[in-house]
Amino acid sequence: MNQHTVDAVARVISNRRTTKRLCDPGARHEHTLPLNPDERAVLKRMLEVAGQAPFHKPADADTHRQESLASPVPWRFHVLEPEACVALLDWLEQQAATDTPPWVRAWASKVPALLAAAGVLVMATWLPNPSDNPDPEFSHANIEHVAAAGAAVQNLMLMAEASDWDSYWSSGGVLREPDTFERLGISTREQLLGAILLTPRTRPADKIMPGGLFDKRGTMSDWTRRVAL
Ligand SMILES: Cc1cc2nc3c(=O)[nH]c(=O)nc-3n(C[C@H](O)[C@H](O)[C@H](O)COP(=O)(O)O)c2cc1C
Repeated sequence: MNQHTVDAVARVISNRRTTKRLCDPGARHEHTLPLNPDERAVLKRMLEVAGQAPFHKPADADTHRQESLASPVPWRFHVLEPEACVALLDWLEQQAATDTPPWVRAWASKVPALLAAAGVLVMATWLPNPSDNPDPEFSHANIEHVAAAGAAVQNLMLMAEASDWDSYWSSGGVLREPDTFERLGISTREQLLGAILLTPRTRPADKIMPGGLFDKRGTMSDWTRRVAL
């Protein structure tokens, strides 16, 4: 590997920053444009390359590999392009109109503005083993599934950075709700690892915000020690 490649990879990793892009959800029907063919090609490449993450154990076959998403990798990416984000917003607004407190709160959260600005929402899930273990979320196997899925998400965001797209890994808020999973056709046996927003920088945004901890990580010596024996 030559120095040029090392520098290019280091630049992509270091330049990636949480970038929250927000637009007025009320203007979504007038302003939202579908992905153009170039953007769709970039997205396809991002998703293909992201999936080259390492994984240690196959996802449980009976629980997670029954239908068209049959891969043994312990993550799934459910991808919503702009039209699907608008349809999801329409549904969230209808839910809020029922005056049920969680949905009213959801409509008042940042999620609608994020969806209105989104190029793409990737609902990234990890695939827990069936709960024969009393504390399945913390079994070693499940920790490794989460780790592998996290590596795939980071790959996705690095590909976004290299493609001049902004990225934001959100815990998801209302997007974690079982009703939202049902609306999106995601099995509730999957767990949301992140609602990943990926947007070409050429797209409009009313407001752009950084991550809350972006300047708090310190330097390498704050998280690394050399073991001398
Ligand atoms: C698992 C995970 C979940 C996150 N969820 C949120 C979130 O819900 N809201 C938020 O503002 N940032 C969220 N972030 C982004 C962090 O705030 C961000 O990574 C951090 O501030 C460091 O900034 P940087 O990504 O620009 O380096 C999340 C990041 C990770 C890894």
